Amino acid sequence: MRYHLETFGCLMNTYDSEKLEGILAKSGMERADSPEDADVILLNTCSIREKAEAKVFSRLGRLAGLKKSGKVRLIALGGCMASLRKEEIFKRAPIVDVLFGPDSAAHLPQMLEDFRATGKRQVDVAIDEHTVWDGTEDLPDKRSGTVAASVGIMKGCDNHCTYCVVPSTRGPEVSRPAASILAEVRILVAAGYREVMLIGQNVNSYGKGLSPETGFPALLRMVEQVDGIGRIRFMTSHPKDMNDQLVEVMADSKKICPAIHLPLQAGADRILGMMNRNYTVDEYLGKVARLRKAIPEVAISTDIMAGFPTETESEFQRTLEIMEQVRFDSLYLFNYSPRPGTAAVEMEGMLLKEEAQSRFDRAHALHRRIVAEKLKSFVGSTQEVLCEQAKATDGGFARCTGRTPTNQLVIFKGDKGLVGKTLQVTIKDVLGYNLEGLLAGI
Ligand code: SAH
Ligand code: SF4
Ligand code: F3S
Repeated sequence: MRYHLETFGCLMNTYDSEKLEGILAKSGMERADSPEDADVILLNTCSIREKAEAKVFSRLGRLAGLKKSGKVRLIALGGCMASLRKEEIFKRAPIVDVLFGPDSAAHLPQMLEDFRATGKRQVDVAIDEHTVWDGTEDLPDKRSGTVAASVGIMKGCDNHCTYCVVPSTRGPEVSRPAASILAEVRILVAAGYREVMLIGQNVNSYGKGLSPETGFPALLRMVEQVDGIGRIRFMTSHPKDMNDQLVEVMADSKKICPAIHLPLQAGADRILGMMNRNYTVDEYLGKVARLRKAIPEVAISTDIMAGFPTETESEFQRTLEIMEQVRFDSLYLFNYSPRPGTAAVEMEGMLLKEEAQSRFDRAHALHRRIVAEKLKSFVGSTQEVLCEQAKATDGGFARCTGRTPTNQLVIFKGDKGLVGKTLQVTIKDVLGYNLEGLLAGI
């Protein structure tokens, strides 16, 4: 049996897909690079916004032909959409045969087998509210990169931001024991990885319920001590839980990258309150100031949502003002999307589409200007770049890409041998949201 797996959504989903590939390989299945060559198609899906779901439905629409022709025998849909929508998926997409949630990966081979044996649809979308992967036996053995890899440190979320489906698609927050995380990091380093990204919905609250109790700063210190590790990143930090200890550990460390993703969402306290974010704009700005004081070069990225219900024009102006003030190094911008089962979907005061879009467009234009200015200031400097990829070109050299510690993508000429190396690259130009450089000394 050959499978083809497509992944939608966030880093957590990519990580889950890597684990899934390990599980499928162990059950004797082989990977097919295109859906045409597969017996089974798996979609690991995302529900975060309406558009994310629409993408999956449209993909299913295009896969329908393959299913009808009999080439593909089975379509399985997993991840957050399976968890949120459950059997409703079968109504909208009758070509789906198997539904598996974020916690059901281990059962997938059996479910595929049962479907083949009986022809009956299989569903397992139960959320395990207690256990988290606690060991290294079901670790990904197929990774999407060769230099940097994600390591899950917790699952679920306890925050209940009023707009967000994640607490219901992934269940309550459960932290993974430090020993198991460290074991995975060691395996990665032994396999040649140089960088790890520790991932969770709210890494700053890592450690709840663990014994011995371990907070996130303590976990970072342990990861940093793994022999051979080059760089450590993490994501996402909830501003309400980001504390001085974290800043201290980051400032002290040569390996923890000076970069933090700190989603602001909105620039007005009334909206943050309605979102149930549990911080004020002033508190947020105070944390940014502490980070910058202790780590002057720190890159701060954020998420901004435009058009939350009842947001007024002047409240949105506050968001733009905060953007001007903080000058984020990178920013993910979203239009508010009402999600089933969330508290916000019940709120009145939905903005007109045109108004929400106009806010999105203005925030986007402002961010482009700020980032262009910031990137320009890199030109002429020499940066430490960890080369992650090298693609051969017709010109006899490879087009290399890598990142600075502050997470800026740099493109430069080189060769395949540079992958995994930390290099000095002199920045020559700005290419959209990225930088272009030359290996120093060439
Ligand atoms: N746990 C992380 C990220 C969760 S999802 C955190 O708390 O930051 C990533 C981003 O998607 C969020 O930060 C938010 O900006 C956006 N998002 C989540 N739900 C959304 C919705 N219903 N509509 C629009 N954007 C949403
Ligand atoms: Fe969603 Fe908020 Fe949890 Fe992030 S912290 S996953 S936005 S509920
Ligand atoms: Fe990630 Fe989307 Fe689920 S953002 S946690 S895959 S809803």
